Amino acid sequence: LAAIERQIFQGKEEAVTMSGLLIYGANGYSGALIARETVARGLRPILAGRNAEVLATLARSLGLDHRTFGLDRPEAVDAGIRGSAVVLHCAGPFVHTSSPMADACLRAGVHYLDITGEAEVFEALFARDAEAKASGVMLLPGVGFDVVPSDCLAAHLKRRLPSADRLALAFWLRGRLSRGTATTMVENLHRGGLVRQDGVLRQVPAAWKTRKIDFGTGQVKAITIPWGDVATAYHSTGIPNIAVYMAAPLGLRLAARASRYTGRLLGSAWVQAFLKRRVRAGPPGPSDEERRHGRSYLWGEAADAAGRKVVSRIEGPEGYTLTTLTAVAIAERVLAGEAPPGFQTPAMAYGPDFVLGVKDVVRTDE
Ligand SMILES: NC(=O)c1ccc[n+]([C@@H]2O[C@H](COP(=O)([O-])OP(=O)(O)OC[C@H]3O[C@@H](n4cnc5c(N)ncnc54)[C@H](OP(=O)(O)O)[C@@H]3O)[C@@H](O)[C@H]2O)c1
Repeated sequence: LAAIERQIFQGKEEAVTMSGLLIYGANGYSGALIARETVARGLRPILAGRNAEVLATLARSLGLDHRTFGLDRPEAVDAGIRGSAVVLHCAGPFVHTSSPMADACLRAGVHYLDITGEAEVFEALFARDAEAKASGVMLLPGVGFDVVPSDCLAAHLKRRLPSADRLALAFWLRGRLSRGTATTMVENLHRGGLVRQDGVLRQVPAAWKTRKIDFGTGQVKAITIPWGDVATAYHSTGIPNIAVYMAAPLGLRLAARASRYTGRLLGSAWVQAFLKRRVRAGPPGPSDEERRHGRSYLWGEAADAAGRKVVSRIEGPEGYTLTTLTAVAIAERVLAGEAPPGFQTPAMAYGPDFVLGVKDVVRTDE
């Protein structure tokens, strides 16, 4: 263990304080945006990840300490997060990375945040609620675009219509995807769709339903996708029937439907490798300029058995900017001691109006 620690801390004597934020995967596109925002807000996180060279360059440019460790060996992760009060995990796809980090956080009594949007990751962490409560640890996945605004919207709709038994959520992202998001999507292409029915997650065909949605700018066609809220919105609201839609132009709607028949091919090793190579050849994510001009739109509708319906909308900054702002705002709340133990969603921990405290976010009710 001493050897691992020497390697991670590179011989430096670091003060072990229980007040610190550690950002893992800080050298990724989203991790680096988040690291920059923390510094702009006066925080001094430790940056961490497995890529020593890129991490060191980023840390130097921000005047921060860094630690290099992978997630393969539990003793390395234990040593890597030593002394932190909260880990903000930004290295995905999280289906591969969440559990080794959550394990270490639970062993060390460190709060866990991540920016996943993967339903199975939310459910795996939800299953560890009792363990987290016993350790006094908060497990709060999904502190980015998925699921902060949509989770707050879901909880707001439930507050407006407490008898709701059906929830539809939708989003429209106007802007480019990051490599990490595209890689996560590639890994899930062949898995079809997912909805919540009678309280249970149910596999459905890709693009199972199409619906016209008014995000506040006119009607747009949207298809169901297996988005994280089918997991989280149920825990936040108790509403047993949930579907999530994404605005999709014709080409994407057709491709999604076609994936019902090509699923096996899309999941094959060589197609996955080919698609991931294509993703890696592209830019890491939207440029600063693109992020400045992008916007995100969310829509939600709750309905009950008596035919009552409520609709609300949220409009905010571009998706990665919003991810950065919500992730850092939540890290600040945790550092201020607001970290209810156990599995949490953003709205469970900080309420339906939390997202309204984020710059440039507005909510309207119909
Ligand atoms: N929920 C949301 O709204 C939201 C928003 C933004 C991003 N995300 C998710 O966040 C993840 C990262 O996105 P990104 O845009 O930052 O991607 P990215 O630029 O590709 O960065 C990915 C980061 O994860 C690290 N990583 C990947 N696999 C790892 C592993 N097995 N062990 C250790 N580190 C690993 C990479 O390290 P190396 O450089 O060493 O490969 C890199 O630092 C994706 O899963 C994406 O879907 C979600």
